Amino acid sequence: MTDFGKEYMARDIDHVLIDEETILKRIQELADRLSNEYRGKDLVCICILKGAVVFYAELTKRMSVHMKMDFMSISSYGDAEKTSGIVRIMSDINTSITGKHVLVIEDIMDSGLTLNHLKTLLGERKPASLKIVCLLDKPSRRECDITPDYKCFEIPNEFAVGFGLDYAGKYRNLPYIGVLKPCVYQ
Ligand code: IMP
Ligand code: MG
Repeated sequence: MTDFGKEYMARDIDHVLIDEETILKRIQELADRLSNEYRGKDLVCICILKGAVVFYAELTKRMSVHMKMDFMSISSYGDAEKTSGIVRIMSDINTSITGKHVLVIEDIMDSGLTLNHLKTLLGERKPASLKIVCLLDKPSRRECDITPDYKCFEIPNEFAVGFGLDYAGKYRNLPYIGVLKPCVYQ
């Protein structure tokens, strides 16, 4: 059996940052911690589309507590290189979060501007608590005073793809996190 499909995409990868086994082990640890903290609470887990979709599925299926699952699609004003941090909600959740415990599940916190603004928007709906969960964190790039409440990995200032993260809409379905060869985006 050849693994042509994955090999084909792997040609564009310069190096693997975090392999699949390491990611799934870390997600299990985080799921156990979240299960302990949210047991017996009225929990809503919000997936920020599209980047968080793979992480969201792997995390929530390992959590052993009741929850409502909902999905939100947002876009940041600004160009491809730089987010302005002004968030537009393209598709909203249809669950009321007033008085509920909310986990916002996102792929990566980079400048932090997107999540900072989203936190303000969701906070206006008066949840009982509002916490941010990120698969990846690039603290060296932060431009505002925010940190994820829970995260799986800190990464250096490199552009990561895979496990939901994209470059120009591609590579989200890679089962690991890698860094693209510069020739792919130059
Ligand atoms: P922030 O507002 O700068 O924190 O931007 C966060 C968004 O930028 C993420 O949700 C991603 O869509 C995107 N992003 C930031 N860094 C990366 C990366 O290394 N790879 C892929 N997308 C990224
Ligand atoms: Mg994203």
